[in-house]
Amino acid sequence: MSAHDLDWWRNAVVYQVYIRSFADGNGDGTGDIAGLRSKLDHLARLGVDAIWINPWYPSPLADGGYDVADYRAIDPRFGDTAQAEAFVAEAHERGIKILLDIVPNHHSDEHEWFREALAAGPGSPERERYVFRDGRGPDGAQPPNNWESMFGGPAWERVPDGQWYLHLFDVKQPDVNWEHPEIREDFERTLRFWFDRGVDGFRVDVANAMIKQPGLPDIEQGVNDVQDGGHPYLDRDDVHEVYRSWRAIGDSYDPPKVFVAEAWVPDPERLARYLRPDELQTAFSFNFLTAAWLADDLRRNIDDAIAENTAVGAPATWVLSNHDVCRHPSRLARKPEAGRGWLLDDVLDLPADPELGLRRARAATLLMLALPGTAYLYQGEEFGLPEVEDIPVEQLDDPTWELSGHSKRGRDGCRVPLPWAANEPSFGFSVNARSAGAALSDPAWLPQPEVFARHAADVQESDPDSVLHLYRDALAIRHAHPALGGGTLTWLDSPEGTLALARTSNEGESGFTALVNVSSSPVSLPEDAEVLLASGPLTARDEVPADTTVWLRQ
Ligand code: GLC
Repeated sequence: MSAHDLDWWRNAVVYQVYIRSFADGNGDGTGDIAGLRSKLDHLARLGVDAIWINPWYPSPLADGGYDVADYRAIDPRFGDTAQAEAFVAEAHERGIKILLDIVPNHHSDEHEWFREALAAGPGSPERERYVFRDGRGPDGAQPPNNWESMFGGPAWERVPDGQWYLHLFDVKQPDVNWEHPEIREDFERTLRFWFDRGVDGFRVDVANAMIKQPGLPDIEQGVNDVQDGGHPYLDRDDVHEVYRSWRAIGDSYDPPKVFVAEAWVPDPERLARYLRPDELQTAFSFNFLTAAWLADDLRRNIDDAIAENTAVGAPATWVLSNHDVCRHPSRLARKPEAGRGWLLDDVLDLPADPELGLRRARAATLLMLALPGTAYLYQGEEFGLPEVEDIPVEQLDDPTWELSGHSKRGRDGCRVPLPWAANEPSFGFSVNARSAGAALSDPAWLPQPEVFARHAADVQESDPDSVLHLYRDALAIRHAHPALGGGTLTWLDSPEGTLALARTSNEGESGFTALVNVSSSPVSLPEDAEVLLASGPLTARDEVPADTTVWLRQ
């Protein structure tokens, strides 16, 4: 295996599959492994190097599968272990790597160990695997401290015997105790279990949580919200030791396995600590995702991520959409600064122009794919899917809706099942619906809006100007052009409000530039530039309009 193959993760394009909503192979309205296998050709044609699959383990799905009841099995709604192994092998045959998702901060309350902990009672060794405490106040009726759940409300739930357990997320997601050796061992066993089945790596869920400050002190406003290692449960220095042991496990395989951290750590220097040579290989640079659609903001966040990651020898990892954030065409449909709010609830009330959002999204994607490092695509962005902002509230599934006291809609709007065929029941999401007879097919688990017909894969396929063709063309150029992928970026002089960058590969090959017009008026193309790809049509005078990116041979 060449060094290039070993380092595939340094400049890969990784496609995120939210399995519940990708493709449904058995017509029950929920995506599954059979559906995923039936769409492998789509992913191969798109040109992705790897697929990251959100949790597919047995789960009550209280938080879309991030409440794992058994880490070393497959939820029967998605398939079984044999199907998972067959899928990994089929992807490998096409040269596509597979990353899974590991959820180390919490279990499901339906995990065998949590059931045992509840049954065993206060003071038992079974409770030691979680974070159980007595409450405050004379009768212990007050939560042990003032921590709040990320979804809203207190982070503590009282059980019938009077003790409380910690859940930084939903009440059905009890935090595990990382001081307990069995917890550490069990997660290491899970890594090996899937690595032994051919999986190439893991995305690490809330990688900056897990370790709690001894004594579980209250959060003090104005003291603990600065993330400098002094927060009682976020980004604590001891978490790095966990990743050193995981890296050693990954490195014991040939070829070595890889990790990508989901760590919303705003300071790029602190984020880069997760990427030191004996820790994780990559971590999402979310500051790029939350940059405003303004030249200065984009450039600063790109520079910071590259500088801090380069200092530890790691590539930057870019992403614009995922299963937690409002899809980027809908964020960018608002005023430029709206991009800084990544949740639908942050932008919902702002006026939106969907056409403008899609134009900017196409431009943003070409900017992202021109940057050095790895890029993640979220399922459906290759169809230009918007966020679904008006799911009837009685159909919302994200625990955010309940835990916020019905004040936040949460993340379902980016999780709506994909449209594959405009004229099929459930827009072809249930791939066997037609053959099984439409009446036999359950509706998709979240309602799909009519606008999805326009974005369906078959409609996109037949339109040469579609988002799908743009993504395919961009990935093909990215693979073929010697200056793209790894290497460095140099900013070039460009008109006010625009970005121009040149790329050079590690081997010194150049000849690629990109011009991103984030201003509000058209700009001229540089002289002697040949357009390789444009995110939208140029003007009649061959200028680059506002909210458009062009890739140039120069
Ligand atoms: C991560 C996941 C998110 C989940 C949370 C709790 O942020 O991406 O979907 O709700 O962790 O596991």
